[in-house]
Amino acid sequence: MKAVLFNGSPRRNGNTAALLGCVARTLEARGWEVETVQLGKATIHGCRGCQACAKRQDGHCAFGDDDCNAMIDKIMASDAVVMGSPCYFTDVTAELKGLIDRAGYVAFVNKWMFSGKIGAAVIAAGRAGATHAYDTINHMYLMNNMLVPGSVYWNVGFGQKPGEAVENDAFTVQTMEQLGRAIAWLGACTVPQLDKYPR
Ligand SMILES: Cc1cc2nc3c(=O)[nH]c(=O)nc-3n(C[C@H](O)[C@H](O)[C@H](O)COP(=O)(O)O)c2cc1C
Repeated sequence: MKAVLFNGSPRRNGNTAALLGCVARTLEARGWEVETVQLGKATIHGCRGCQACAKRQDGHCAFGDDDCNAMIDKIMASDAVVMGSPCYFTDVTAELKGLIDRAGYVAFVNKWMFSGKIGAAVIAAGRAGATHAYDTINHMYLMNNMLVPGSVYWNVGFGQKPGEAVENDAFTVQTMEQLGRAIAWLGACTVPQLDKYPR
């Protein structure tokens, strides 16, 4: 089983990375292959709204001038995708929004090609607005016929300085680890069914 984790923070070793790290460790302990992709290093511009992906029906964005199609390929090669972002003005970062809009739209107009994949959102915030950013990610999954696992709380952690969101907060760590367990559990349930998942 494979999971791809996207870190939408420009801070490579910040709070989003710490939260995603808890999920990654939990999955790896259950035999999953985990790849973490640092957005920002992989650049993805916004959707041009040209609708060429709907016409071409080739499972890719018509613009091959950045890393978007490589990221779509990583999602297609994975059983689970976890999108993580710091909360910026109560929403995800521009780096992650480019991926959500383009990969999400390509999937939607290509017969819901992410159908049956597991999708989870993880947000690091300083103080407020985390659930709004969390919803932004989940909205993409939930209209693309994907499966969204829960945890013991919403998958959010709070802090400003790098690492603060998990340090001294055992419940946040528990939430992220339980998310990892839920992804692994759901993966084990869905794998035999994936070929037949309706779309
Ligand atoms: C441009 C910008 C906007 C931010 N907006 C918010 C916000 O709306 N709500 C909030 O709680 N924190 C906000 N923050 C704080 C970050 O979400 C917080 O520091 C987070 O832990 C950073 O995660 P990272 O270390 O993965 O980058 C903002 C930070 C920046 C740089």
